[in-house]
Amino acid sequence: MRRFTFFGGKGGTGKTSCAAAYALSLASKGTRTLVVSTDPAHSLADAFGKPIGFETALLRENLWGLEIDAEVEAKKYMKVIQEKVLDLVSAAIVEEIKRQIEIAYMSPGAEEAAIFDKFVELMESAGTTYDSIVFDTAPTGHTLRLLTLPEILETWIEHLIEKRRKAMHLMKMAARYDSVLADKIKEDPIIETLSARKEKFALARRYLTDSALSGFFFVLNAEKLPILETARAVELLGKHGVHVGGMVINKVIPPEAGAFFEKRRSAQEGYLADINSRFSSFVRVELPLLDSDIQGVEQLEMMVPLLGALDASGE
Ligand SMILES: Nc1ncnc2c1ncn2[C@@H]1O[C@H](COP(=O)(O)OP(=O)(O)O)[C@@H](O)[C@H]1O
Ligand SMILES: [Mg+2]
Repeated sequence: MRRFTFFGGKGGTGKTSCAAAYALSLASKGTRTLVVSTDPAHSLADAFGKPIGFETALLRENLWGLEIDAEVEAKKYMKVIQEKVLDLVSAAIVEEIKRQIEIAYMSPGAEEAAIFDKFVELMESAGTTYDSIVFDTAPTGHTLRLLTLPEILETWIEHLIEKRRKAMHLMKMAARYDSVLADKIKEDPIIETLSARKEKFALARRYLTDSALSGFFFVLNAEKLPILETARAVELLGKHGVHVGGMVINKVIPPEAGAFFEKRRSAQEGYLADINSRFSSFVRVELPLLDSDIQGVEQLEMMVPLLGALDASGE
């Protein structure tokens, strides 16, 4: 069974509805499932018609929900780093270091890094606390960055470790004449912390690139822009070795929609043909446009049988 299933795509295509319905289908088969939203525009709670927050909430038997808040995670992340670093520096520069960390926290990549950390933490809990995790992700660009981060961060951390090693080497030379310093640098918590992080990223990478463990599904509508965006994203994920499980083509207008929708429907048919030829090597599932929004477990359950084909891909 796949341990990590991601749903991604443009906003409004139906990621949350698909993630919720798919998680529901896993749970009803007895799989302990966690469904997590990493989209700052959370709507998981709306889909289930139940409150979900920043703490894991039980939604029904075998099913838990969680909405990750980037700002909260970034704050937690900064605190941990502050505690670790402030322990190591002399009192004279504590304030300056604090300021530096706070500036780093305001930088554009900080929330991503924090969410990524949470991501990895959750991934580590799969196989123990949960059997399977379903990710309802943020619109494409944001998520792709997140999924391709491990590779980039690993290289970056390797670089930092190397620098630190050199610095330690110099310090050791100086410590020959300074017993207090020699005592201080017996162990190097900075290298330890960096190495631990490197291992975390490596683990995330192993998970994400293992097609038996992870699958990324694009949710798109039969329209021009989502198709182009999906094609680009498929290429990028492929480059980074992330396994694409398939496509969910949502909101397909059914033939019984009647004369008023006929023009739209025939346009969709053209786009569906395009999707089928571009993405012929992937599993494709079509979901009909329903006559109302999808809200609550009962309505989600109607989608469950239609998503069955997603289980087969990647195995
Ligand atoms: N097949 C469908 N038929 C009718 N409404 C749908 C369908 N799929 C999704 N919706 C509705 O469209 C809106 C956007 O769906 P959502 O799953 O929240 O998309 P995303 O998470 O990609 O932004 C929601 O109001 C949802 O209930
Ligand atoms: Mg959503």
